[in-house]
Amino acid sequence: MGCDASVLLNSVNKNTAEKDGPANGSLHAFFVIDNAKKALEALCPGVVSCADILALAARDAVVLVGGPTWEVPKGRKDGRISRASETSQLPSPTFNISQLKQSFSQRGLSLDDLVALSGGHTLGFSHCSSFQSRIRNFNATHDIDPTMHPSLAASLRSVCPKKNNVKNAGATMDPSPTTFDNTYYKLILQGRSLFSSDEALLTFPKTKNLVSKFATSKETFSKAFVNSIIKMSSITGGQEIRKDCRVVN
Ligand code: HEM
Repeated sequence: MGCDASVLLNSVNKNTAEKDGPANGSLHAFFVIDNAKKALEALCPGVVSCADILALAARDAVVLVGGPTWEVPKGRKDGRISRASETSQLPSPTFNISQLKQSFSQRGLSLDDLVALSGGHTLGFSHCSSFQSRIRNFNATHDIDPTMHPSLAASLRSVCPKKNNVKNAGATMDPSPTTFDNTYYKLILQGRSLFSSDEALLTFPKTKNLVSKFATSKETFSKAFVNSIIKMSSITGGQEIRKDCRVVN
């Protein structure tokens, strides 16, 4: 795994690809990347990788919703392997701080990177399945995660029925899911974050201090986010420049 656009490959014959793995069920709009690739191939064929397109599109998406901009280092190559089973290596929303720390450090990312990159949760939506363990049968003594604000727990329970069979039910990560801001960090401090992995950022004094810093300044958060996302997106490992982002050459 790495920033090699393996997530864009389609499943073929016996190989189920990452995009069809359990953790990636909410990925969509692959056509946006296809369109960018078509335009680039028409102008200068074989030059811009799908991995670079993805990194640039992520940057542009952040800019479009009011976040910072940055120069994306280019030259990534596209991978030739994509396995659904490898999505189990992604950090889980139920992870505690030690598990998150380990998962990030395996990829050369620090606790500072963890706090800054988790700020990506200022955008978007989560399905009930990603936080259900916090709102029902949490543990032997608590039905609801005691670190979750009771009013958030109540509203999540009403949106997510006991038998989680309402397709697409869930909640936005914060009340401004299409604005890149530091609301996410303010919510963590109030016990109003969705995932255990968000709440976990309060566990260590070092990470909690960073959450507080980012909650008081969008600028400080933005600078840290840019620094860490450049670092994360330079984890590479591809071999080729694909002609079509959905299939290997
Ligand atoms: C710290 C480890 C992380 C964990 C455990 C995690 C977990 C999750 C989960 C469970 C979802 C919801 C999926 C769903 O139910 O549909 C989600 C959504 C999202 N995550 Fe993360 N994530 C992590 C790191 C990141 C990073 C590094 C970024 C980007 C910098 C990011 C950006 C997002 C965004 C934008 C969404 C919303 C997607 C949508 O609206 O469809 N996350 N994350």
